Amino acid sequence: MFGQKQVPRPEPDPDAPPGAEAAQVAEAPPPVAPLARPHASEGGEVLVRSDLFRVIRNGVFAAMNASAAVGKTREQMKPGVEQLVLDVAERERLNITLAEQGQIVGELLNDMFGLGPIEPLLADDTITDVLVNGPDQVWVERHGRLELTNCKFRDNTHVTNVAQRIAAGVGRRVDESSPMVDARLADGSRVNVVLPPLAIHGASISIRKFSKRNITLHRMSQQGNMSGAMATVLKLASTCRLNVIVSGGTGSGKTTLLNALSHFIGHGERTVTIEDAAELQLVQPHVVSLETRPENAEGLGAVTQRDLVRNALRMRPDRIILGETRGSEAFDVLQAMNTGHDGSMTTIHANTPRDGITRLESMVMMANGNLPLLSIRRQIASAVHMIVQIERMRDGMRRVTRITELVGMEGEVIITQDLFTFRYDASAYSEEVKGVFETGAVRPAFAARAAYYGLEDALLEAMRP
Ligand SMILES: Nc1ncnc2c1ncn2[C@@H]1O[C@H](COP(=O)(O)OP(=O)(O)OP(=O)(O)O)[C@@H](O)[C@H]1O
Ligand SMILES: [Mg+2]
Repeated sequence: MFGQKQVPRPEPDPDAPPGAEAAQVAEAPPPVAPLARPHASEGGEVLVRSDLFRVIRNGVFAAMNASAAVGKTREQMKPGVEQLVLDVAERERLNITLAEQGQIVGELLNDMFGLGPIEPLLADDTITDVLVNGPDQVWVERHGRLELTNCKFRDNTHVTNVAQRIAAGVGRRVDESSPMVDARLADGSRVNVVLPPLAIHGASISIRKFSKRNITLHRMSQQGNMSGAMATVLKLASTCRLNVIVSGGTGSGKTTLLNALSHFIGHGERTVTIEDAAELQLVQPHVVSLETRPENAEGLGAVTQRDLVRNALRMRPDRIILGETRGSEAFDVLQAMNTGHDGSMTTIHANTPRDGITRLESMVMMANGNLPLLSIRRQIASAVHMIVQIERMRDGMRRVTRITELVGMEGEVIITQDLFTFRYDASAYSEEVKGVFETGAVRPAFAARAAYYGLEDALLEAMRP
């Protein structure tokens, strides 16, 4: 009889909120009664919320020697956990299928060694972003579109624990006193964490997965991100050492495009890259990669992008690549572009090339309040040769919507010309985006520079409509 059986009292759940322990004991259902288990149609992800999982998990963790896992790998622990799951199921008289057993063991191991329920999403190569909004909502981006998954965490504390594990992985803390942290996963994925009370509906974890695929300009033209002619012109722009800014919204593919442009940097050129979290994957042999550092718990020791750009100028770089310009470093980047570091590149958050220019102006103004606007404009006009606008469209496709050259000043205005534009087909009103990449009827301002590199003919050929 079950009632006479010695059931070990479950250890307090380290993840459970205060008071939950008593509640668990009190509400523990009679094991002979069927336990609520996930419905087959709900998928394995809701397993973590089921009573079945809760009972087995408590039983396994109670029976496990806490120090047993120290220094062990996931694979080493797996047989032991499998056995414990079987033991607990037998003791509690739970009939679990082989599939359920496998899922339960996987979830337990994910909890012990990985990032809990989102672990399978991280392993899925078709997913580019994983966005956790508290315990109930996990969104992913796949093929440029957001999807709600049925992945769930047990509760708020579970999300916070995973967030803390991520932060601890890069030697940082995330708690009430420092509730926002940028971190990186072991595979290079970029992570941002915001904890309650700043995140009102539970801890938020945003993961931009590190792309294993190397997306080249050629590939981008093949998959319709731009036309073949655009890819050629961008390749020439990079080879001819133009100063290029990639402009676009969040997740529009700026970093990916910047990375693709960097492939045409000569192998004899010394390149310094500066980023908050190293995402660029340069293929050249001569690259120095620098990464910023946030301040420590005492508020000291921060190294900003601006510090690194200034330092980079003393490193004899041929080119400087700044992952994203978003503050006072704009001033120094323009200086660098204007002082013999041609071929420098960066990205900026803006919706059009014009907006990009305006953003640059205001960033420089904020960095250097006493510079008159006109002289800032002159600096931008002579420093920046090209702005490439990229957009993630509603069909999930990323497209280069504009390749714009800065050709000089007229009075107080920066003059630009569009080499290419993407023209929407307004009649196509549906999920699908239709349109064409058009070549502007202009002579590229960098034709003379291309001639210097012996590439003028190739450029004019690519610009032929
Ligand atoms: N042309 C493309 N084809 C397929 N996937 C792409 C393409 N461009 C970008 N992606 C994917 O989209 C995701 C976002 O791209 P990326 O990091 O380049 O965007 P971003 O504009 O730099 O974003 P953020 O504003 O967050 O810095 C990445 O996971 C990347 O692999
Ligand atoms: Mg980026």
